Amino acid sequence: MATRTLARVARMIECGGWQEAGMGPAREESAMDFSRFDARNYPTVSVQDGYGEWAATYEDIVLDAMDLRLLARIRTVDWAQVHDVADLACGTGRTGAWLSQQGVSTIDGVDLTPAMLEKAAAKGIYRRLLVGDLRETPLPAGGYDLATVVLADEHLPDVRPLYQETARITQMHGYLILVGFHPFFLLSGVPTHFTRPSGESATIECFVHLLSDHVQAALAAGWSLLEMHEGLVDDEWLARKPKWAPYQHRPVSFAMVWQKRA
Ligand SMILES: C[S@@+](CC[C@H](N)C(=O)[O-])C[C@H]1O[C@@H](n2cnc3c(N)ncnc32)[C@H](O)[C@@H]1O
Repeated sequence: MATRTLARVARMIECGGWQEAGMGPAREESAMDFSRFDARNYPTVSVQDGYGEWAATYEDIVLDAMDLRLLARIRTVDWAQVHDVADLACGTGRTGAWLSQQGVSTIDGVDLTPAMLEKAAAKGIYRRLLVGDLRETPLPAGGYDLATVVLADEHLPDVRPLYQETARITQMHGYLILVGFHPFFLLSGVPTHFTRPSGESATIECFVHLLSDHVQAALAAGWSLLEMHEGLVDDEWLARKPKWAPYQHRPVSFAMVWQKRA
């Protein structure tokens, strides 16, 4: 990815096309860095190291209320018409399992962290599982009815490549479902984090993307918004995680359904 991107950037600088192409930073890059909002100050680890360590216990910790209950609210996608799905940042395969329950027959998964993919493979629901970066996958152009990116965008310094790559791999009028850790929640100072067997907590490197960052990046990549939902720390949540009471009523996750414009 680096070589191709650098070559493209070098070409654009040469042609003075950086700003015109909308690729310049929308605002001060440092405004996106989570560390300025961090209220926990755990040591920060990379995505691969963090999820490599967390893979063994990840599914015991993440609540379905974070993402699956938002997926269940989606009304604009007719699951009977969805056959081929690219599940990017598929992790241990929770989203794939949910898609499979909706009757989706062919699911390809991509993720940066081999230990997460091993868990996904054990579920036996993916046609292919690839170690790779969701911002530049080896998946075929126009090959999918739907791309999903669930609980991963906060690990990207910039969401634009996510929307561009998903637009590339989906067919015309195809869909993108993005579920994210809510930026309002990150702004409360709580990062994506996990607890090590030693009892210490670690933050997995993350960034704050305002909802307008998502909208601008998606529109520029050729997507139209069909639907959006937000999930709160509510009674259902607190029944499972009472320690989250200080965050009651705050939005903790969001789901957006996009459709590729003709
Ligand atoms: C919180 S987990 C979510 C996994 C799964 N989608 C789910 O909902 O359970 C985040 C996953 O994103 C993956 N990830 C983060 N950045 C990525 C990137 N640039 N490309 C591919 N995978 C990435 C991590 O390896 C990890 O498995």
